[in-house]
Amino acid sequence: GENGDLSRLRILVTAGGTREKIDAVRILANRSSGKMGHAVATAARDRGAKVTLITAANHLEVPMGVEAIHVESAMEMCEKVKEHASQNDILVMAAAVADWRAQDVRDNKMKKGKQQTWNIEMIRNPDILMEIVNEDIFKVGFAAETEDIIENALQKLVSKKLNLIVANDISGENPTFNSDENEVYIITREKGKKLPLMSKYDVANKILDKIKQMFKK
Ligand code: PMT
Repeated sequence: GENGDLSRLRILVTAGGTREKIDAVRILANRSSGKMGHAVATAARDRGAKVTLITAANHLEVPMGVEAIHVESAMEMCEKVKEHASQNDILVMAAAVADWRAQDVRDNKMKKGKQQTWNIEMIRNPDILMEIVNEDIFKVGFAAETEDIIENALQKLVSKKLNLIVANDISGENPTFNSDENEVYIITREKGKKLPLMSKYDVANKILDKIKQMFKK
């Protein structure tokens, strides 16, 4: 509510896996459920922040009191983030954004014909975090890594000019995707800290604690 410890903060959160059209019926998707991003939005709302949620997880319930914007593709998400960045203090990019999209999206459904292969030419999507450079906004990224987690996450923190990055270990049997729990490292330029396995809502609160400690208006 209005009396929470984050009541002066405006937080823009992204969630879910973007979907890239290939033709009239087919898409390229990824395994992000949107649960992590929605948990950040819920926890921030519970602590009184003004929350805008740009979500590709259109099947997930939107937390009450949160302004939600539904998107499909990386390009749409990028456009919406850019549109809202200047009105927010914090950007938390929990979405799994497709790095590529089909260069030519067919208007019709691709016919099977006799061919045994179908080559789809892909083109790079913009990096949303990299596009947000002129706005005075505190940037938090996520990183899903299978190896050298801290080093890889730190590289992303530096190249995308982030204040904070949250790294998930998605190697092996680790759930993370679509799970209600997550095991993460919270990493700044100065140090990295591994947290034990906990609910995504609790992870969200740990991230918000760190943001609160670092953010100076
Ligand atoms: O949705 P869940 O099922 O709950 O799962 C949560 C999660 C694993 C998806 C989430 O915790 C997570 O890690 N999200 C980031 C996934 C990822 O692989 O990110 P990345 O390494 O591709 O990108 C790093 C950062 O740059 C991310 O903050 C991403 O949102 C951002 N990015 C990536 C590509 C792009 N074109 N633009 C971006 O801004």
